[in-house]
Amino acid sequence: QTIHQKDYTIPDYLIDTVELTFDLDPEDTRVVSRLAIHSNHDRGNGVKPLVLDGEDLTLVSLKLDGVALEQGAYRIEDAGLVLPSPPERFLLEVETRINPKENTALSGLYSSGPMLCTQCEAQGFRRITYFTDRPDVMAVYTVTLRADKASCPVLLANGNLVEKGDLPDGRHFAVWHDPFKKPSYLFAVVAGDLVHIADRFTTMSGREVQLEIYVEERNQDKCEHALRSLMRAMRWDEEQFGREYDLDTYMVVAVDDFNMGAMENKGLNVFNSRYVLASPQSATDDDYEAIEEVIGHEYFHNWTGNRITCRDWFQLSLKEGLTIFRDQEFSADMQSRPVKRIADVKSLRSAQFPEDASPLAHPVRPESYVEINNFYSMTVYHKGGEVIRMLQTLLGHDAFRAGMDLYFERHDGQAVRVDEFVQAMADAGKRDLSQFMLWYDQAGTPVLTVSDAYRADEGSYTLTVTQSCPSTPGQPEKKPFHIPLAMGLLDREGNELPLKLAGETEALGTSRVLELRRETETFTFVGLKERPVPSLLRNFCAPVKLEYPYSDEDLNLLMTRDSDPFVRWEAGQLQAVKLIMALIADIQAGREARVPESFIESFRRLLSDDRQDRAFLAETLTLPTENYLAEQMAVIDPDAIHQARELVRRTVGELLGAELTSVRKACAPKAPYRPDDGLSGCRRLKNLCLSYLMAAGRQEAIDACMVQFRSADNMTDSLGALSPLGSCACPEREEAFASFYECWRSDRGVIDKWFAHQAVSRLPDTLDRVLALLEHPDFDIRNPNRVRSLVGAFSQGNQFRFHDASGRGYRFLGDQILRLNGINPQIAARMLTPFSRWRRFDAQRQELMKKELERILAEPGLARDVYELAAKSL
Ligand code: ARG
Ligand code: ZN
Repeated sequence: QTIHQKDYTIPDYLIDTVELTFDLDPEDTRVVSRLAIHSNHDRGNGVKPLVLDGEDLTLVSLKLDGVALEQGAYRIEDAGLVLPSPPERFLLEVETRINPKENTALSGLYSSGPMLCTQCEAQGFRRITYFTDRPDVMAVYTVTLRADKASCPVLLANGNLVEKGDLPDGRHFAVWHDPFKKPSYLFAVVAGDLVHIADRFTTMSGREVQLEIYVEERNQDKCEHALRSLMRAMRWDEEQFGREYDLDTYMVVAVDDFNMGAMENKGLNVFNSRYVLASPQSATDDDYEAIEEVIGHEYFHNWTGNRITCRDWFQLSLKEGLTIFRDQEFSADMQSRPVKRIADVKSLRSAQFPEDASPLAHPVRPESYVEINNFYSMTVYHKGGEVIRMLQTLLGHDAFRAGMDLYFERHDGQAVRVDEFVQAMADAGKRDLSQFMLWYDQAGTPVLTVSDAYRADEGSYTLTVTQSCPSTPGQPEKKPFHIPLAMGLLDREGNELPLKLAGETEALGTSRVLELRRETETFTFVGLKERPVPSLLRNFCAPVKLEYPYSDEDLNLLMTRDSDPFVRWEAGQLQAVKLIMALIADIQAGREARVPESFIESFRRLLSDDRQDRAFLAETLTLPTENYLAEQMAVIDPDAIHQARELVRRTVGELLGAELTSVRKACAPKAPYRPDDGLSGCRRLKNLCLSYLMAAGRQEAIDACMVQFRSADNMTDSLGALSPLGSCACPEREEAFASFYECWRSDRGVIDKWFAHQAVSRLPDTLDRVLALLEHPDFDIRNPNRVRSLVGAFSQGNQFRFHDASGRGYRFLGDQILRLNGINPQIAARMLTPFSRWRRFDAQRQELMKKELERILAEPGLARDVYELAAKSL
């Protein structure tokens, strides 16, 4: 059953207050819910039925204004509980029973290790009790929790603790009240045997907030970074957006079994433990950054998501796109802004662009869905974030900030649409943003085709920019988008030229934002003594593909001289793409493929330049991924892509051994590791050098790897050595993986990495290893992180081996999806992504992938989540 945006109607009934009482038990929890309900429509034309959503609930009793309802006064239907003709205003009391232990879907109330916890977004609350489970019904919640005191000493819910005490039979209770009205998806409960670390934060207006991070006891010493990150996020939101926290406590709980990254429940965030737990020995530099980012993300939701929420789920990007933008900016301020921007662009291109080019393409604001969980997508989140960034680029920083202030001022406490947000921006910036709205409603990645002409007699230079956008499901034709194009012009020496458009009286700086509105736009710059080199799409100012016929010389100039770090990096990537594409053509034609001297020379120059920022240099020296290269091909040839890319890596390793070794030495640790020692760029560069040396396959490199592996005092360097060993057909590989396992077997997060590093190995026996790992005692199909680290890493992080022409990889994935279907539909659906790209491959692979999709669709009892994606993919 498909839900359409255009069918939205306001709720028939509203709920003002919710009183919930939980008698918690892992296998038989009783929930009593008291709802103060009133009609939200004019009753002149009759009474509408009240429909309360419910799923996998056992109804125990039902009372209306204190009186038990007779059998005929209500119905239980597939979708939930129906009262055909309730009064105008009444109190409904519903008692239900649920079994958290059997809840392997991890939606609603479920058990994870020694605790019970909840995940209600998007529609999990209906798996706890009957309710109008939609975000535009907002209520004030009071929650009483009762549980066995010995096994469940900690009882948490949203808001403030108002009372607690003991009960007979070794039980105890706690009462929580959340003064802020909220939609049901922000409800949360956690109960279990947990410890916490705490600190205090004083807000800008002087309010004291208690911060608490709850974990299982064995993880007590791994919370410090999350807590510090939270304090940085709170300060940053005050400084950048003037937003202050609003409750007396802010709690974060880490759980091992979690479908997504984390959840912004009001005052009680629940996190996947991988985004909380970190110790210097067990977490990588990337882990530290990811924790800071996700902690920030959930914290920023308190204003963009919780104080102002979504009217309906089609508006998901209202909170997610905006909050992604905010967390990206936070991370950029905490780390290196250019490196962060590059990382974000890479992830957009490697995951969102392919989604936009697949049968699952959908707009940032989808117009329909079968299962909303399938739309927590790269498009809604990350393209949505880019859309917000474009608004900032178009309006300028100050007007954008004024637009944010206006949005908060107008809509605090409301559930609104994307339109309200964009209107606030339009009003604050005094701009017409009606065409800009197409970014929310049209899917597909626009392509900008740029051509230019220089007229020496006039000293003028004309850029012609034509936009187009491929058709996507349900949208054969597209209207032109409103696109900011940040650009500059360079002379042949690499100097930035003043930018003066024809008709202007003076030049306006050396970098400016052009606005594209029509299909074709031209811009003529004057006062130019020679033909300039255009620097386009600075800071990746729009989520588009840009086509301009750069010469190698142009790219060299941009790479070394442009003022914009993104453009410098991009120029290097374009060179690498050009080179690898040429090698692929040679390989496919059976010609000899060789890496040109000039490419190696430019790598040599980069490696010898020790003035550069090392994290940025590492990005420059990293070749485009196989996934990204695949995107550039009409028909993806995973074998040729792998061969060509490896040829470049091997050649670099062979010819630049001395340079790589000396950079490794220069970056070698001089003091014991500290996560905040400012040397993460150094470690990244050094480990990249090691991987190039390993690509050349010499024993010295293997020895160097083993030395690093044995002596590393931090996880970044351990994995920096383990990772290339994973693709090395040498005895050292077995030794390293075995000893790594022995050392870390009691640390789940690290063992996830151990699984993943085997799943992404380039060696020919990888699938056999993966199959064997499915039987490993530490593999647990019910744990999403473990599934991602084995099944996900192989199918989404190992294009070469997954797309083996035999189709064995496909069969493996099909099997795992079917297995997951009955356990955790959300995770099963997530695993389907690679199959949705089947049309991009050759006929034989297409056939094999299609067969798997058909096999999945033929399965009886297919979950809605899996059905929707499989059906749309075909
Ligand atoms: N709102 C959460 C976040 O962005 C994501 C939770 C989504 N969960 C789900 N099952 N759809 O941080
Ligand atoms: Zn979010």
